[in-house]
Amino acid sequence: MTEATVMNDAAPPNATPAPVAKPHLPDAQTVTEVTHWTDRLFSFRVTRPKSLRFRSGEFVMIGLMDDRGKPLLRAYSIASPSWDEALEFYSIKVPDGPLTSRLQHIRPGDEIILRPKPVGTLVLDALTPGRRLWFLATGTGIAPFASLMRDPETYEKYDQVIMMHTCREVAELEYGRQLVEELRADELVGEMAAGKLLYYPTTTRDPSARMGRVTDNLSSGKVFADLRIPGPMDPATDRAMVCGSLAFNLDVKAILEGWGLREGANSDPAEYVVEKAFVGDGI
Ligand code: FAD
Ligand code: A2P
Repeated sequence: MTEATVMNDAAPPNATPAPVAKPHLPDAQTVTEVTHWTDRLFSFRVTRPKSLRFRSGEFVMIGLMDDRGKPLLRAYSIASPSWDEALEFYSIKVPDGPLTSRLQHIRPGDEIILRPKPVGTLVLDALTPGRRLWFLATGTGIAPFASLMRDPETYEKYDQVIMMHTCREVAELEYGRQLVEELRADELVGEMAAGKLLYYPTTTRDPSARMGRVTDNLSSGKVFADLRIPGPMDPATDRAMVCGSLAFNLDVKAILEGWGLREGANSDPAEYVVEKAFVGDGI
Protein backbone atom coordinates (compact mmCIF):
# COMPACT_ATOMS: atom_id res chain seq x y z
CA MET A 1 0.00 0.00 0.00
CA THR A 2 1.37 3.47 -0.88
CA GLU A 3 1.67 6.39 1.53
CA ALA A 4 -1.11 8.23 -0.38
CA THR A 5 -3.63 5.39 0.10
CA VAL A 6 -2.76 5.06 3.80
CA MET A 7 -3.55 8.77 4.22
CA ASN A 8 -6.83 8.40 2.29
CA ASP A 9 -7.93 5.45 4.41
CA ALA A 10 -7.25 7.41 7.59
CA ALA A 11 -9.04 10.59 6.39
CA PRO A 12 -12.60 11.43 7.52
CA PRO A 13 -15.31 10.51 4.93
CA ASN A 14 -15.92 14.08 3.60
CA ALA A 15 -12.27 15.24 3.47
CA THR A 16 -10.76 16.20 0.07
CA PRO A 17 -8.84 13.15 -1.21
CA ALA A 18 -5.05 13.54 -1.20
CA PRO A 19 -3.67 14.15 -4.72
CA VAL A 20 -2.53 10.97 -6.45
CA ALA A 21 1.23 11.15 -6.95
CA LYS A 22 2.36 10.97 -10.60
CA PRO A 23 4.55 7.93 -11.32
CA HIS A 24 8.24 8.85 -11.19
CA LEU A 25 10.21 8.51 -14.44
CA PRO A 26 13.62 6.81 -14.31
CA ASP A 27 16.37 9.48 -14.00
CA ALA A 28 13.58 12.04 -13.56
CA GLN A 29 14.28 15.76 -13.30
CA THR A 30 11.63 18.42 -12.72
CA VAL A 31 10.98 21.23 -15.19
CA THR A 32 11.28 24.62 -13.46
CA GLU A 33 10.93 27.10 -16.34
CA VAL A 34 9.82 27.07 -19.99
CA THR A 35 10.21 29.93 -22.51
CA HIS A 36 8.80 29.82 -26.03
CA TRP A 37 10.87 31.96 -28.40
CA THR A 38 9.11 31.24 -31.71
CA ASP A 39 6.71 28.60 -32.99
CA ARG A 40 9.82 26.47 -33.74
CA LEU A 41 12.05 27.21 -30.74
CA PHE A 42 11.82 27.00 -26.96
CA SER A 43 14.12 26.74 -23.97
CA PHE A 44 13.58 25.17 -20.57
CA ARG A 45 15.31 24.65 -17.25
CA VAL A 46 15.22 21.51 -15.13
CA THR A 47 16.59 20.50 -11.73
CA ARG A 48 20.18 19.24 -11.81
CA PRO A 49 21.04 15.85 -10.32
CA LYS A 50 23.47 16.43 -7.43
CA SER A 51 25.87 13.86 -8.84
CA LEU A 52 26.00 15.36 -12.37
CA ARG A 53 29.39 16.84 -13.22
CA PHE A 54 29.92 18.05 -16.79
CA ARG A 55 32.22 20.25 -18.81
CA SER A 56 30.61 23.31 -20.40
CA GLY A 57 29.81 22.43 -24.04
CA GLU A 58 28.91 18.76 -23.45
CA PHE A 59 25.61 17.05 -24.28
CA VAL A 60 23.40 14.49 -22.51
CA MET A 61 20.46 12.28 -23.50
CA ILE A 62 17.09 13.61 -22.41
CA GLY A 63 13.51 12.61 -23.19
CA LEU A 64 10.09 11.40 -22.15
CA MET A 65 8.33 8.04 -21.93
CA ASP A 66 6.71 7.00 -25.21
CA ASP A 67 3.16 5.65 -25.50
CA ARG A 68 4.41 2.12 -24.80
CA GLY A 69 6.16 3.18 -21.60
CA LYS A 70 9.67 3.07 -23.09
CA PRO A 71 12.12 5.99 -22.72
CA LEU A 72 12.30 8.10 -25.92
CA LEU A 73 15.64 9.86 -25.69
CA ARG A 74 17.52 12.39 -27.85
CA ALA A 75 20.92 14.08 -27.57
CA TYR A 76 20.76 17.64 -26.18
CA SER A 77 23.56 20.10 -25.53
CA ILE A 78 23.48 21.49 -22.01
CA ALA A 79 23.04 25.23 -22.59
CA SER A 80 23.78 26.26 -19.01
CA PRO A 81 27.36 26.52 -17.70
CA SER A 82 28.91 23.85 -15.49
CA TRP A 83 28.66 26.05 -12.35
CA ASP A 84 24.87 26.61 -12.65
CA GLU A 85 22.68 24.84 -10.09
CA ALA A 86 19.97 24.12 -12.72
CA LEU A 87 20.29 22.71 -16.26
CA GLU A 88 19.09 24.66 -19.29
CA PHE A 89 18.26 23.31 -22.76
CA TYR A 90 17.42 25.11 -26.00
CA SER A 91 15.21 23.12 -28.31
CA ILE A 92 13.72 22.91 -31.75
CA LYS A 93 10.03 21.94 -32.15
CA VAL A 94 9.80 19.44 -35.00
CA PRO A 95 6.06 19.19 -35.83
CA ASP A 96 6.14 15.41 -36.37
CA GLY A 97 9.27 14.77 -34.32
CA PRO A 98 8.84 11.76 -32.03
CA LEU A 99 10.25 13.63 -29.02
CA THR A 100 9.78 17.35 -29.66
CA SER A 101 6.16 17.11 -30.82
CA ARG A 102 5.52 16.23 -27.14
CA LEU A 103 8.45 17.90 -25.36
CA GLN A 104 7.28 21.32 -26.60
CA HIS A 105 4.24 20.99 -24.29
CA ILE A 106 6.16 20.54 -21.00
CA ARG A 107 5.32 22.92 -18.17
CA PRO A 108 6.92 23.74 -14.82
CA GLY A 109 6.35 20.83 -12.45
CA ASP A 110 6.49 18.18 -15.21
CA GLU A 111 9.25 15.60 -15.25
CA ILE A 112 11.66 14.70 -18.04
CA ILE A 113 14.19 11.88 -18.24
CA LEU A 114 17.84 12.92 -18.08
CA ARG A 115 20.60 10.34 -18.40
CA PRO A 116 23.48 11.79 -16.36
CA LYS A 117 26.30 10.79 -18.73
CA PRO A 118 27.67 13.95 -20.36
CA VAL A 119 29.89 13.63 -23.46
CA GLY A 120 31.02 15.72 -26.42
CA THR A 121 33.86 17.36 -28.29
CA LEU A 122 32.90 21.03 -27.91
CA VAL A 123 34.96 21.43 -24.75
CA LEU A 124 37.88 23.74 -23.99
CA ASP A 125 40.10 20.72 -23.24
CA ALA A 126 39.87 19.54 -26.88
CA LEU A 127 41.68 22.67 -28.11
CA THR A 128 45.37 23.52 -27.79
CA PRO A 129 46.08 26.87 -26.08
CA GLY A 130 45.34 29.96 -28.19
CA ARG A 131 44.46 33.63 -27.90
CA ARG A 132 41.24 34.04 -29.90
CA LEU A 133 38.29 31.62 -29.67
CA TRP A 134 35.53 31.45 -32.32
CA PHE A 135 32.08 29.95 -31.67
CA LEU A 136 30.42 29.29 -35.08
CA ALA A 137 26.77 28.21 -35.00
CA THR A 138 23.48 28.10 -36.85
CA GLY A 139 20.05 27.55 -35.28
CA THR A 140 20.01 25.48 -32.08
CA GLY A 141 23.75 24.96 -32.60
CA ILE A 142 24.20 27.95 -30.28
CA ALA A 143 23.24 25.74 -27.29
CA PRO A 144 26.74 24.44 -26.37
CA PHE A 145 28.10 27.99 -26.75
CA ALA A 146 25.34 29.33 -24.48
CA SER A 147 27.08 27.14 -21.89
CA LEU A 148 30.66 28.07 -22.82
CA MET A 149 29.92 31.82 -23.11
CA ARG A 150 28.75 31.75 -19.47
CA ASP A 151 31.78 29.84 -18.16
CA PRO A 152 34.55 31.97 -16.59
CA GLU A 153 37.15 29.43 -17.77
CA THR A 154 36.49 30.51 -21.37
CA TYR A 155 37.64 34.03 -20.55
CA GLU A 156 40.52 32.83 -18.37
CA LYS A 157 41.89 30.86 -21.34
CA TYR A 158 41.30 33.37 -24.18
CA ASP A 159 41.92 37.10 -24.78
CA GLN A 160 39.00 37.36 -27.18
CA VAL A 161 35.85 35.24 -27.77
CA ILE A 162 33.76 35.74 -30.92
CA MET A 163 30.22 34.31 -31.15
CA MET A 164 28.96 34.10 -34.74
CA HIS A 165 25.34 32.89 -34.85
CA THR A 166 23.23 32.77 -38.00
CA CYS A 167 19.54 32.03 -38.48
CA ARG A 168 17.07 32.63 -41.26
CA GLU A 169 14.92 35.07 -39.24
CA VAL A 170 15.51 37.79 -36.65
CA ALA A 171 13.17 36.13 -34.10
CA GLU A 172 15.35 33.00 -34.15
CA LEU A 173 18.30 35.02 -32.83
CA GLU A 174 16.42 36.28 -29.76
CA TYR A 175 17.47 33.52 -27.31
CA GLY A 176 21.15 34.22 -28.05
CA ARG A 177 20.69 38.00 -28.06
CA GLN A 178 19.06 38.03 -24.61
CA LEU A 179 21.60 35.59 -23.26
CA VAL A 180 24.50 37.85 -24.31
CA GLU A 181 22.75 40.93 -22.91
CA GLU A 182 22.14 39.23 -19.54
CA LEU A 183 25.66 37.81 -19.52
CA ARG A 184 27.16 41.30 -19.78
CA ALA A 185 25.25 42.28 -16.61
CA ASP A 186 26.09 39.04 -14.76
CA GLU A 187 28.00 39.31 -11.45
CA LEU A 188 30.18 36.27 -12.01
CA VAL A 189 31.23 36.54 -15.68
CA GLY A 190 29.92 39.96 -16.75
CA GLU A 191 33.13 41.88 -16.30
CA MET A 192 35.32 39.24 -17.97
CA ALA A 193 32.88 38.87 -20.86
CA ALA A 194 32.36 42.62 -21.33
CA GLY A 195 35.98 43.12 -22.35
CA LYS A 196 36.43 39.92 -24.35
CA LEU A 197 33.16 38.72 -25.91
CA LEU A 198 32.24 39.92 -29.41
CA TYR A 199 28.76 38.90 -30.56
CA TYR A 200 28.10 38.70 -34.32
CA PRO A 201 24.52 37.60 -35.05
CA THR A 202 23.33 37.51 -38.67
CA THR A 203 20.20 36.57 -40.59
CA THR A 204 20.02 35.16 -44.10
CA ARG A 205 16.36 35.66 -45.06
CA ASP A 206 14.90 38.42 -42.83
CA PRO A 207 16.44 41.83 -43.34
CA SER A 208 18.51 42.80 -40.26
CA ALA A 209 21.46 44.99 -39.20
CA ARG A 210 23.96 42.26 -40.18
CA MET A 211 23.26 39.67 -42.81
CA GLY A 212 24.88 36.66 -44.48
CA ARG A 213 25.94 33.09 -43.81
CA VAL A 214 28.78 32.44 -41.35
CA THR A 215 30.75 30.85 -44.19
CA ASP A 216 30.38 33.88 -46.50
CA ASN A 217 31.19 36.37 -43.74
CA LEU A 218 34.34 34.43 -42.87
CA SER A 219 35.57 33.86 -46.46
CA SER A 220 34.89 37.40 -47.63
CA GLY A 221 36.62 38.86 -44.58
CA LYS A 222 33.46 40.84 -43.69
CA VAL A 223 33.36 39.69 -40.06
CA PHE A 224 36.99 40.75 -39.48
CA ALA A 225 36.34 44.15 -41.08
CA ASP A 226 33.04 44.71 -39.22
CA LEU A 227 34.58 43.81 -35.83
CA ARG A 228 37.87 45.61 -36.67
CA ILE A 229 39.96 42.59 -35.74
CA PRO A 230 42.83 40.99 -37.70
CA GLY A 231 41.92 38.33 -40.26
CA PRO A 232 41.87 35.69 -41.55
CA MET A 233 42.28 33.13 -38.75
CA ASP A 234 45.84 32.16 -37.85
CA PRO A 235 46.51 28.58 -36.66
CA ALA A 236 49.07 29.93 -34.20
CA THR A 237 46.52 31.97 -32.25
CA ASP A 238 42.94 31.21 -33.43
CA ARG A 239 40.81 28.34 -32.09
CA ALA A 240 37.31 27.49 -33.26
CA MET A 241 34.28 25.41 -32.26
CA VAL A 242 31.62 24.60 -34.88
CA CYS A 243 28.02 23.46 -34.34
CA GLY A 244 25.33 23.39 -37.02
CA SER A 245 23.82 21.14 -39.69
CA LEU A 246 26.07 18.60 -41.42
CA ALA A 247 26.29 20.83 -44.53
CA PHE A 248 27.21 23.87 -42.41
CA ASN A 249 29.84 21.95 -40.47
CA LEU A 250 31.45 20.62 -43.66
CA ASP A 251 31.54 24.07 -45.30
CA VAL A 252 33.03 25.70 -42.19
CA LYS A 253 35.59 22.89 -41.83
CA ALA A 254 36.79 23.49 -45.40
CA ILE A 255 37.37 27.19 -44.62
CA LEU A 256 39.18 26.49 -41.35
CA GLU A 257 41.37 23.81 -42.94
CA GLY A 258 42.14 26.25 -45.77
CA TRP A 259 43.53 28.62 -43.14
CA GLY A 260 45.69 25.84 -41.69
CA LEU A 261 43.64 24.89 -38.61
CA ARG A 262 43.45 21.15 -37.80
CA GLU A 263 40.55 19.27 -36.25
CA GLY A 264 41.00 18.21 -32.61
CA ALA A 265 39.31 15.82 -30.21
CA ASN A 266 39.29 15.13 -26.49
CA SER A 267 42.06 12.56 -26.96
CA ASP A 268 44.03 14.71 -29.44
CA PRO A 269 43.54 18.46 -28.91
CA ALA A 270 44.16 20.72 -31.95
CA GLU A 271 42.94 24.03 -33.38
CA TYR A 272 39.22 23.41 -33.96
CA VAL A 273 36.43 21.01 -32.96
CA VAL A 274 33.06 20.20 -34.56
CA GLU A 275 29.77 18.65 -33.46
CA LYS A 276 26.49 18.17 -35.29
CA ALA A 277 23.61 20.30 -33.91
CA PHE A 278 21.28 17.53 -35.10
CA VAL A 279 21.20 14.50 -37.38
CA GLY A 280 19.27 14.91 -40.65
CA ASP A 281 18.64 17.62 -43.21
CA GLY A 282 16.78 20.13 -41.05
CA ILE A 283 13.17 21.15 -41.44
P1 FAD B 1 14.00 13.62 -34.74
O1 FAD B 1 13.41 12.38 -35.32
O2 FAD B 1 15.17 13.48 -33.83
O3 FAD B 1 14.37 14.63 -35.89
C1 FAD B 1 13.53 14.78 -37.02
C2 FAD B 1 14.21 15.72 -38.01
O4 FAD B 1 14.12 17.05 -37.51
C3 FAD B 1 15.72 15.47 -38.20
O5 FAD B 1 15.95 14.47 -39.14
C4 FAD B 1 16.18 16.81 -38.65
O6 FAD B 1 15.92 16.94 -40.03
C5 FAD B 1 15.28 17.78 -37.89
N1 FAD B 1 15.92 18.30 -36.65
C6 FAD B 1 16.15 17.62 -35.49
N2 FAD B 1 16.74 18.42 -34.58
C7 FAD B 1 16.90 19.64 -35.16
C8 FAD B 1 17.45 20.86 -34.71
N3 FAD B 1 17.96 20.99 -33.47
N4 FAD B 1 17.43 21.90 -35.56
C9 FAD B 1 16.91 21.77 -36.82
N5 FAD B 1 16.39 20.63 -37.30
C10 FAD B 1 16.36 19.57 -36.48
N6 FAD B 1 18.34 19.56 -30.70
C11 FAD B 1 17.98 20.67 -30.05
O7 FAD B 1 16.87 21.18 -30.31
N7 FAD B 1 18.79 21.25 -29.11
C12 FAD B 1 20.00 20.75 -28.79
O8 FAD B 1 20.71 21.28 -27.93
C13 FAD B 1 20.42 19.57 -29.48
N8 FAD B 1 21.65 19.03 -29.25
C14 FAD B 1 22.06 17.95 -29.98
C15 FAD B 1 23.35 17.44 -29.79
C16 FAD B 1 23.80 16.36 -30.55
C17 FAD B 1 25.20 15.84 -30.34
C18 FAD B 1 22.93 15.76 -31.51
C19 FAD B 1 23.39 14.59 -32.34
C20 FAD B 1 21.65 16.23 -31.67
C21 FAD B 1 21.20 17.33 -30.92
N9 FAD B 1 19.92 17.85 -31.09
C22 FAD B 1 19.55 19.00 -30.43
C23 FAD B 1 18.90 17.18 -31.94
C24 FAD B 1 18.03 16.30 -31.04
O9 FAD B 1 18.77 15.17 -30.64
C25 FAD B 1 16.71 15.82 -31.73
O10 FAD B 1 16.96 15.43 -33.05
C26 FAD B 1 15.64 16.88 -31.71
O11 FAD B 1 15.29 17.14 -30.36
C27 FAD B 1 14.37 16.45 -32.46
O12 FAD B 1 13.88 15.27 -31.87
P2 FAD B 1 12.57 14.57 -32.45
O13 FAD B 1 12.49 13.21 -31.85
O14 FAD B 1 11.41 15.48 -32.25
O15 FAD B 1 12.84 14.46 -34.01
P1 A2P C 1 20.30 30.15 -45.78
O1 A2P C 1 19.06 30.87 -45.36
O2 A2P C 1 21.14 30.92 -46.75
O3 A2P C 1 20.05 28.74 -46.22
P2 A2P C 1 18.44 25.97 -41.65
O4 A2P C 1 17.26 26.69 -41.04
O5 A2P C 1 18.26 25.53 -43.06
O6 A2P C 1 19.00 24.90 -40.74
O7 A2P C 1 19.59 27.08 -41.71
C1 A2P C 1 19.97 27.84 -40.59
C2 A2P C 1 20.90 28.92 -41.05
O8 A2P C 1 22.11 28.30 -41.53
C3 A2P C 1 20.34 29.72 -42.20
O9 A2P C 1 20.65 31.07 -41.98
C4 A2P C 1 21.04 29.15 -43.43
O10 A2P C 1 21.26 30.09 -44.46
C5 A2P C 1 22.39 28.76 -42.84
N1 A2P C 1 23.01 27.66 -43.57
C6 A2P C 1 22.41 26.53 -44.02
N2 A2P C 1 23.29 25.73 -44.64
C7 A2P C 1 24.48 26.37 -44.58
C8 A2P C 1 25.79 26.05 -45.07
N3 A2P C 1 26.02 24.91 -45.73
N4 A2P C 1 26.76 26.95 -44.86
C9 A2P C 1 26.52 28.11 -44.20
N5 A2P C 1 25.32 28.45 -43.72
C10 A2P C 1 24.30 27.60 -43.90
